[in-house]
Amino acid sequence: MEPILELESARLLMRQWRDEDLPAFAAMCADPQVMRYFPAPLSRLESAALIGRIRGHFAEHGFGGWALERKDNGAFIGFTGLGVVGFEAPFTPATEIGWRLAREHWGLGYASEAAWTALRCGFDRLQLDQVVAFTTEANLPSQKVMQAIGMHPDPAGDFQHPNVQAGHPLRSHVLYRITREQWLETLHG
Ligand SMILES: CC(C)(COP(=O)(O)OP(=O)(O)OC[C@H]1O[C@@H](n2cnc3c(N)ncnc32)[C@H](O)[C@@H]1OP(=O)(O)O)[C@@H](O)C(=O)NCCC(=O)NCCS
Repeated sequence: MEPILELESARLLMRQWRDEDLPAFAAMCADPQVMRYFPAPLSRLESAALIGRIRGHFAEHGFGGWALERKDNGAFIGFTGLGVVGFEAPFTPATEIGWRLAREHWGLGYASEAAWTALRCGFDRLQLDQVVAFTTEANLPSQKVMQAIGMHPDPAGDFQHPNVQAGHPLRSHVLYRITREQWLETLHG
């Protein structure tokens, strides 16, 4: 299948990463508020490495975390995308949806708008049967986005994230899912 390099929503271009995105991306990932539900903010080097891994995911799978650009002012505001879950859990193998936006662009509906577009790509173009999302229990803003795009909590799937240290308060994760049938229902009411 042709790689899906770009998507578009009403207000956003979802595009490939440019080297010029690094300063804004690194600033976002160094912001303690943005990274509140992650073990630690990222250094500039770690952010650069993360862009490298996202590019690698596109190269391997033909989809990934698209860089988000506002159409109204061209600003890079974060990323949203689909990813092959990179660890083993009872719900894997699976494709996940995820997002991270810079703080000044929160509360404007951009995350839900991009997530909706990525989810549609997953079902329409990638022909997935199901998409999962997960986050640490306390991350309610992220869970709101999951709910906004029609995902459902699956409490039986809640898990301890294997990449977070045992005993760490962020280790307990909630699992959300949406099947192709559920997605079609949200479309057609
Ligand atoms: C998770 C995250 C992306 C959510 O961002 P967000 O801006 O709250 O999410 P949305 O873009 O969907 O905005 C929704 C809010 O904008 C409001 N809004 C304003 N204009 C809107 C519009 N045109 N359409 C939809 N919502 C709109 C909504 O009322 C909603 O408010 P609510 O939260 O009170 O319901 C953001 O908090 C973030 O980047 N967090 C840090 C990274 C992170 O934790 N990522 C997830 C890891 S699993």
